[in-house]
Amino acid sequence: MLKKRIAVLVSGGGTNLQAILDAEKSGVINSGKTVLVISNVEGAYALRRAESHGVKTAVILKKECGGQGPFEDKLSETLEAENIDLIVLAGFMSILSEAFTKRHEGKIINVHPSLIPSFCGKGFYGLRVHEAALEYGVKVTGATVHFVNEIPDGGEIIMQKAVEVLPDDTPETLQRRVMEQAEWVILPQAIEYICSGRHIQTHQSERKMA
Ligand code: GAR
Repeated sequence: MLKKRIAVLVSGGGTNLQAILDAEKSGVINSGKTVLVISNVEGAYALRRAESHGVKTAVILKKECGGQGPFEDKLSETLEAENIDLIVLAGFMSILSEAFTKRHEGKIINVHPSLIPSFCGKGFYGLRVHEAALEYGVKVTGATVHFVNEIPDGGEIIMQKAVEVLPDDTPETLQRRVMEQAEWVILPQAIEYICSGRHIQTHQSERKMA
């Protein structure tokens, strides 16, 4: 069977991208292949990880495009030119508009470092998510892989994994544990699940009405 063509969108260190590339090597991901990595940040370390795996890269900067609309048009053109089947947001720190999510409906997934619906939505990204979890005093947190729609972190959940919060945790130690025990595990699993056609999307609106 032809492998699905995956694009990974990044903004920073790219440890989730690394987990995807490692999973392709080990065979955890067998039904898809990362063929393109796009960063919205110049010099993001994730780009180096892609290059050292021989994966094509592109940098698209909002300020150079002249705003959100042209930025997203450039993103779409770049993705469509490569016939991408699945768009994975892996530490991509830019909120995408309804126009973009509708254009690629059912094709975009994201990994978020909490158990949605806790600590998610606008303003909850990166270390801030773990700061909020510690501030609240939850004893369990985790990660979620979900489809992306026009609501930040609001799309259908595909996979979740819980992680224990320890008494001495700092945002940094908690972030690392959530990555190691949850994000790097469920993101490759979810990708394989979708690329192999095992995930049948149920629209949230339909689910709510049922
Ligand atoms: C990850 O923890 C990811 O879940 C989070 O940013 C980090 C990126 O790390 N994403 C968000 O908070 C999105 N709302 P990475 O660049 O090493 O993969």
